[in-house]
Amino acid sequence: MLEHRAKLAVASFLLICGQAAAQTPVRIVVNADLGETSISKYIYGQFGEDLGRNIYDGFWTKAGTGQWHLRDDVIEALRRIQVPVLRWPGGCFADYYHWRDGIGPQGQRPKMVNTVWGGVTEDNSFGTHEYMELIQRLGADAFIVGNVGSGAVEEMSKWWEYLHAPTGSPLGDERAANGHPDPYTVRFWGVGNESWGCGGAMTPETYAENYKRYAEYLRGARPFRIASGPNTDDYAWTETMMKEAGWMIDGLDFHYYTVAGTWANKGRATEFTEQGWFAAMQKALRMDTLITRHATIMDRYDPAKRVWLIVGEWGMWHDPEPGSTPGFLYQQNTLRDAVVAGLHLNIFNSHADRVRMANIAQTINVLQSMILTQGDQMILTPTYWVFDLYKVHQDAMLLPLNIRSDAYTLDGQSVPAVSASASKDRDGRIHISLVNLDPNRGRTVQVDIRGQQVSGVSGRVLTAATMQAHNTFEQPNAVQPVDFHGARLSGGVLTVDLPSKSVVVVELR
Ligand code: AHR
Repeated sequence: MLEHRAKLAVASFLLICGQAAAQTPVRIVVNADLGETSISKYIYGQFGEDLGRNIYDGFWTKAGTGQWHLRDDVIEALRRIQVPVLRWPGGCFADYYHWRDGIGPQGQRPKMVNTVWGGVTEDNSFGTHEYMELIQRLGADAFIVGNVGSGAVEEMSKWWEYLHAPTGSPLGDERAANGHPDPYTVRFWGVGNESWGCGGAMTPETYAENYKRYAEYLRGARPFRIASGPNTDDYAWTETMMKEAGWMIDGLDFHYYTVAGTWANKGRATEFTEQGWFAAMQKALRMDTLITRHATIMDRYDPAKRVWLIVGEWGMWHDPEPGSTPGFLYQQNTLRDAVVAGLHLNIFNSHADRVRMANIAQTINVLQSMILTQGDQMILTPTYWVFDLYKVHQDAMLLPLNIRSDAYTLDGQSVPAVSASASKDRDGRIHISLVNLDPNRGRTVQVDIRGQQVSGVSGRVLTAATMQAHNTFEQPNAVQPVDFHGARLSGGVLTVDLPSKSVVVVELR
């Protein structure tokens, strides 16, 4: 107890004496020969809900030809970041969607009003076959979320059967008549979305009973079955689901968003002060506590860690851009979003034994996007570039790491200034992702690499002159990574001059 108090006193002293802390290099020890857990590539997953201009006008367009088609430029950009999985059709939309409306000749499909998002009329031209073509062109795995909230067990079970039945069976023949004789492969299947809210407003007890019924009828080659998980800190949800249905669950889909302001007044994506920057960092860091607590509950029921904790929705949620349709959730994306993304991905990596998938919300034109489109133009956001930098962690071995960072302090509140994650790929290359949360001051980071000889270092950095820097259709390359020259090796110690408000990934050979 005394020792604990003494540590607290030292920490407070360092935080109060900003000058003292400023001169202390951040220290990191990477144990390059002690890795045990791989970082699942699915942590770098995406979410493409039928919301706003994500599907229609995002992935799917009439531009150029006048006929609906998948956008080649979008697919090429997403292939570059190696999208491993794309969650679809929702989100809240999933519990409103009836899959039969989205198959058959496109001109004959019933139109629908998307009452969940924006009240717009859609022609259902993007449905099951179009999604599966997109998945195949991305080189990703499919993650379909079925309708529990307003759909029947039979409806979900038949969607699964339609996708997978061989020809010669009624649903297999129907799929063949619609242009795809070979069964599709859908690896991940969500049984409803946010069943505590827009997916049916159920108690965990009611949802657990429903989950078992719906999951049971996903027959034949069983999918990886994903249950709707907790909202933020609803630990009772996790407890009930693991206790009542854990043996039938392969993944539990937990959601947490970073809102710099309040839910009623979230704040603008591009117009914020340092208080808005700091609040975003502080709230993003909460992800670590939430995962730790949910994972602790899961450990009690599943010590072997068979069940994946999936962070199926995460990212920064701002007020919609002025002039956009409020229900479309269209927002810009600045260096602040990029730093928050790097921080989250480091947190997910550090929980790689339990967090085996995450899906940032969302891919195009919605919330913390990778891509923004305008007509046939497309820009890549700062967040896209973080996913590009971090793709080296996909399926690499997580390396245990200890970090001692000084604080970034504002108005008497503090967060650790530097976040880090390290992994080793199949070729023995070590990658370290570093994030400096402090918008005012760079840090010198000293990294001891133990357990492996390294002789060369290179890297890339994402930063900008201001916290609010972002890409526009007029200036699409204002924020993008460049080669990093602030890292040097000497006798197994790596020294990195980490710029303020930056994300850096270094490679050691
Ligand atoms: O991502 C936007 C919405 O946020 C999703 O539809 C829903 O699941 C969540 O509440």
